[in-house]
Amino acid sequence: MPMKPLMPRNQVRNLVDERLRLPPFPDAARELHVLLQDPKAGTREAAEALERAPAVGARLLQLANAGYMKLATRLDSIAHMADVLGVRTLHDLALQAALMEQYAHLEGDSEFDIEGQWAHAILTALVARGLARRFHGPSGLRPSEAYVAGILHDAGKLVLLDCLGDTYRDAQREAGDRRRSLEAIEGQRFGFTHVHVGARLVERWNLPRQVVRAICFHHGPSFEIVNNPAVLIVALADQIAYRCSNALGGTVRSRLQSLAARVLHLTPEAFGEVLVEAQKHRALVTADLRLARSGALSVPSAGKNGGGSDRDFPDPAERTKTQVP
Ligand SMILES: [Fe+2]
Ligand SMILES: [Fe+2]
Repeated sequence: MPMKPLMPRNQVRNLVDERLRLPPFPDAARELHVLLQDPKAGTREAAEALERAPAVGARLLQLANAGYMKLATRLDSIAHMADVLGVRTLHDLALQAALMEQYAHLEGDSEFDIEGQWAHAILTALVARGLARRFHGPSGLRPSEAYVAGILHDAGKLVLLDCLGDTYRDAQREAGDRRRSLEAIEGQRFGFTHVHVGARLVERWNLPRQVVRAICFHHGPSFEIVNNPAVLIVALADQIAYRCSNALGGTVRSRLQSLAARVLHLTPEAFGEVLVEAQKHRALVTADLRLARSGALSVPSAGKNGGGSDRDFPDPAERTKTQVP
């Protein structure tokens, strides 16, 4: 029996399909995905697959050498990278690299901070992976899935900008000018939001159902966040990534901490470790961005403020009022 789709309403899914051009699953990642299923395949085959997609391979090599990857040696070739990282990590990073390639033409957009967007995605992915490593209960995400979900959680914004151009820039401007959440403006203007677009994208890519769910509900409703560890992992990582530039304290910290305790069974100490790690990741991602902006790196891979327009969003505990359509 076919599985019930996760997207909230067929009408929304149809609208997304009609109005937007969603990129296909990247070929390089597809080849690596096939290799993952083959016990006889190894890193040599993975390197060969990436060499057939040189632009993605080159970008992936730069990502792998970024400071936040914390590798002991500098990777100087795709073969070397494949040996050090292994097929699973290559697969996850290839999705990120391919999406960056897909939307490379948006780099330098004067109104949309794509570098900040990627920085926020990377930081969210690293925090989500840290949370997933600490949660051992059912219905969570594997660390690798959490990383992918973090990288892709706001990919809908890239699709929207690419397909709708100035109309989407207007929506972003309106959210900033009126100090309203971006997803509220998106919903009002388009009948769907970036979470629907992102969820539809990964649904079409046949990524695991929990990844689709986590992306679909990372801004609520709160029912989904508090009842689904996979959703909370991404929603919490999203909030931590936005907020860790300011010392995360007071009521916000205690709300996030109590959500983590209630749903992910994280002790206050473990939650504190996640925040410390997030600060360290942030410093490395930011340093990487400075290199990229100075021209020492050609690929934007970090951001100045953790991701731009979502920074005023309420924390997940306040999401009760924010019902996605
Ligand atoms: Fe978002
Ligand atoms: Fe986000």
